Amino acid sequence: MKILTAPDELQQTCLEWRARGLSVALVPTMGYYHDGHVSLMRHAREAAQKVVVSLFVNPTQFGPGEDLATYPRDPERDAAIAESNGVDLLFMPSPEDMYSPAHATWVEVPELSRTMCGLSRPTHFRGVCTVVLKLFMLAQPAIAFFGQKDWQQAAILKRMAADLNVPTAIRTCPIVREKDGLALSSRNVYLTQEERAQAPHLYQSLRLAAELAASGETDARRLMTAIREHWKTYLPKAQEDYLTIVEPDSLAPVETLSGPALCALAVRLGKARLIDNMLLKTA
Ligand code: PAF
Repeated sequence: MKILTAPDELQQTCLEWRARGLSVALVPTMGYYHDGHVSLMRHAREAAQKVVVSLFVNPTQFGPGEDLATYPRDPERDAAIAESNGVDLLFMPSPEDMYSPAHATWVEVPELSRTMCGLSRPTHFRGVCTVVLKLFMLAQPAIAFFGQKDWQQAAILKRMAADLNVPTAIRTCPIVREKDGLALSSRNVYLTQEERAQAPHLYQSLRLAAELAASGETDARRLMTAIREHWKTYLPKAQEDYLTIVEPDSLAPVETLSGPALCALAVRLGKARLIDNMLLKTA
C-alpha cells in the first residue's frame, strides 16, 4: 500500500491510473477505524481496480468548541487496517497540505444543510462539502463510498455531485452496529461505561418507531413521542439535539407517513454527540 501526504502526488498517481484505464474508488474518512470503515473499504475493493482511502481530520467541518483537538487518532493502526483490507493508496495529508493560507473557496448546499445536524453545527456541512469536493478533484474517483449513519451528509453530497456535474457515483453502505445495536462511531470512545450501557437504547427507540410504523402508525408526531418516552425511561441523561422524521432525499419534514421516511436523531450523552437513523416503512 502506498502512503501519500501531498495532494499533487495523489492527483498525479490517480491521473496515471486513469490514463492506464484503471478505475478508482474513494473512501473519504477521518480515521480511527472501526468495522464501519472496513465495510466501506471492502465495498470499494469490489467496485474498482484501485482503492484510495483518505484519512484526514478535516478542521473546516468542526465548529468552535467542538472536538477537533481531541478527535480520536491512531494513524499507525489505521494504516495497518487499510492495508489488510486491500487499500492501494492511503492519503494522509496535514491541514496545511489541504488548505493553503489563502484558501477562500467554499462549497455549500444550504437548503439541505440548515436542518438536522446543521441546526447545532451551522458550518459543518460546508466544511464536509468543500473537503469532499477537493478529494474528488484529487482522486478523480469513478465511485465514492459513505456510511448511512451520516445520512444527511450523504444526501448533501449526492445533491452537490448532481448539481455540479461531478463524475463520481456516490454510494452509501448500511450502518454497522455493535451486537447490542449501538451504531459504530469513532466518537463512541468518549462514552463512560454507564453511558455505553445506555447508548443502545437509541437503536431500540428507532426500532420501536419502525415497528409502530410497520403496524400502521402514520402520525410522525406520535412516533416521535414514543421515542422520547423511551429515552425518558432508558436514557435519562441523554440530551436531545434533534429528533425528526423526514423524506429520505429532500430531508423535508414528514407529518404523515405515506411512503418510506427516515427517522433521524442526535443526542448528547456525556461528552459524546451520537447520531443514528432508520428508515421507517409504512404498513
Ligand atoms: O464522514 C466523515 O468521516 C467525514 O465527514 C468525511 C466525509 C471524511 C469528510 O471529512
